[in-house]
Amino acid sequence: VGLSLRHRFAAGRGYLGAATLGLPVDVTRDAVRRDLEKWSTGTADVVEYTALVESARGHAATLLGTTSDRVAIGATASAFVALAAAAAPPGAEVVVVDGDFASVVRPFLAREDLRVTQVPLAGLAEAVGPDTWMVAYALVQSATGEVADAAAVRSAARDHDVRVLVDTTQATGWLPTTDLDADLTVCHTYKWLCGPRGSAFASFSARAQEEIRPLTAGWYSALDPWASCYGPELDLAPDASRYDLSPAWHAWVGAEAALGFTISLDVAEVHAHGLDLANAFRDRLDLGPSDSAIVAWPDPGGAALAAMTTAGITASGRAGRARVSFHLWNDEEDVDLTATALGR
Ligand SMILES: Cc1ncc(COP(=O)(O)O)c(C=O)c1O
Repeated sequence: VGLSLRHRFAAGRGYLGAATLGLPVDVTRDAVRRDLEKWSTGTADVVEYTALVESARGHAATLLGTTSDRVAIGATASAFVALAAAAAPPGAEVVVVDGDFASVVRPFLAREDLRVTQVPLAGLAEAVGPDTWMVAYALVQSATGEVADAAAVRSAARDHDVRVLVDTTQATGWLPTTDLDADLTVCHTYKWLCGPRGSAFASFSARAQEEIRPLTAGWYSALDPWASCYGPELDLAPDASRYDLSPAWHAWVGAEAALGFTISLDVAEVHAHGLDLANAFRDRLDLGPSDSAIVAWPDPGGAALAAMTTAGITASGRAGRARVSFHLWNDEEDVDLTATALGR
């Protein structure tokens, strides 16, 4: 029982690296190949690229439980976080998670005039107070796989009228992300969404759009980009597409196919599939069950990572831990191969 999508991926046996770099599904690979062929034969069509980007924006809206007019497209999560950081008043307090991924934290630190309070994930909601301007966190922690209590954070933020930024890069694709109701939600597609690196998206609440200046505005930030490629006026789209980065076309060809594939799946099934495999693996390691498709455990000397690598398994080492992740192309055989490689 469960999902059987292995046949949609050219590789995958022993590939436990979704948290680092997802694998392209067949339709993504085919779309990218077709694009390369068109591009190299001089028949690529820039208007067609625009249509694909707009289709991808619609898919992204579906994944975040919002509408296309609230979604911006970009190239990295960190650049969207930077727009939020730029909007913070001098001296403002931003509460973040100690040990969170750098892209979620560094844009605030780089301001150097903000009060960045770093707290353990478990104390995130409690750390939000009346002096907080924004709370910013990854829904699933990159290094540990821990899943944040989004409802508790949102509730604390509401109590104190605090803005919420959620990075769903390690979540969207295996964990439902349609009910976050954050001011800014940012996501890069190259992990659990199986898109190419260089295709990211974000959703902006009405308040976020009021407060955040579109400092990355370019030709694509206009209401009708192709009709407004030149100055001198500030021609900004009235919706969140004012925050668009000029699209990396070749990446978005693959991303459009990847996101279309993802929204065709039942996220509850994908979620159960990843959790079942992760928990079967945890069981082999005598770790208790968890709620994450990412399994990370202490590996200070790197022996576990080395054993897995020697056995041909693609895993990763993060912050003194070994890390494996279970996604669409994995099955029980991957669990067995990996546990066996670890002598379990
Ligand atoms: C939580 C999280 N956010 C974002 C990223 C990627 O950041 P960026 O899009 O800035 O490269 C990663 C990559 O590991 C991540 O784990």
